[in-house]
Amino acid sequence: MCPDAERDSLAACIQGDCLIFTEELLTPELVQILQSLLRNQEAWSDFPLILLTSKGEVNAFTQKRQHLREPLGNVVLLERPVRPETLVNVVQNAVRARARQYQIRDHIEQYRHAEEALRQSEKLAVAGRLASSIAHEINNPLESVTNLLYIMRSCDSIEQIDRYLKIAESELARVSEITTHTLQFYRQPSKPGPVVLTEILDSVLTLYHPRLVSAGISVEKKFDHVWSITGSSGELRQVFSNLIGNALDAMRNGGRLVLHARNSRDYSSGLKPGVRITIADTGTGVPAELKHKIFDPFFTTKGATGTGLGLWISSELIQKHGGRIQMKSKVSDSVPSGAVFSLFLPCQSNCVELKPAV
Ligand SMILES: Nc1ncnc2c1ncn2[C@@H]1O[C@H](COP(=O)(O)OP(=O)(O)OP(=O)(O)O)[C@@H](O)[C@H]1O
Ligand SMILES: [Mg+2]
Repeated sequence: MCPDAERDSLAACIQGDCLIFTEELLTPELVQILQSLLRNQEAWSDFPLILLTSKGEVNAFTQKRQHLREPLGNVVLLERPVRPETLVNVVQNAVRARARQYQIRDHIEQYRHAEEALRQSEKLAVAGRLASSIAHEINNPLESVTNLLYIMRSCDSIEQIDRYLKIAESELARVSEITTHTLQFYRQPSKPGPVVLTEILDSVLTLYHPRLVSAGISVEKKFDHVWSITGSSGELRQVFSNLIGNALDAMRNGGRLVLHARNSRDYSSGLKPGVRITIADTGTGVPAELKHKIFDPFFTTKGATGTGLGLWISSELIQKHGGRIQMKSKVSDSVPSGAVFSLFLPCQSNCVELKPAV
């Protein structure tokens, strides 16, 4: 029971499980105070009120009281005189209903904690992904430098060694660029400039030469005199290095690697001019059920030797250059027919056609 109609006492009363009061106490002022207290209830709360009414017929006065208590919401009426067991039963039910509300409150609280924990673990996962992607980006140029040092050991011509040294320097510059960006905790775009994609493809092929030879893979190049595009040569080298590396992984027992470069237009985006590169191999191919997964982060079929980040990073870098990448592969009855990666990179400004080499 709440003997006092003061706001503070009422506020303390509705912290309990239910409130019982008599009809005589129900003045407009009390209704107003109760209403303002109940309006501030949490969404899970529907505080039970038990109102002891007086015996009698329905008349204008009782109707007025009914109208008065309407804003209070969850009110149970008990007509006096009330049998004690009836009152006990009604109070027990109200307390049980309130206990359910507290349970809902606890569930909501647990859900909030779980949501917060999930948000924290998602942040950690993103940080982990970022760290792996940086390690992946650094690993490729380092692998290139190792290959170059290996090739240089068996080189007799100073000119050739000089050429390989220049490639090694540019690969190390890429590592330093990545680490600088990592230290700044922000992957800044490498400064874009004019890029000739066929030159990058050639330099990546040079890096993979020892692997191509030892795996018995023949290379067919069909390079037209393509437009120079605007982009980051380091990032595009990263893309080609991963695509060619993947093709080699798929042809462990030898095969054919076909590279094609030509000027083209992107039919899906208003005939934008650009350069289309296709990298085709005669390797294991990609089964139909895996086609939609290969560009996802961490998807790999290479076990511990793959991170599954190569195609994900490549597609992000190509999108950053305003381009598109697609893959086609037909593997029927486990008979491999290789994979074809086709990418389109648009010319950002006026396309500059390169003069054919003389
Ligand atoms: N040319 C290809 N032929 C067959 N399967 C391929 C080819 N390219 C990609 N894949 C499949 O796509 C998966 C994802 O490739 P992705 O480059 O993203 O990662 P990865 O090569 O497995 O690992 P990482 O690039 O980190 O070394 C590969 O594991 C492979 O199953
Ligand atoms: Mg890869």
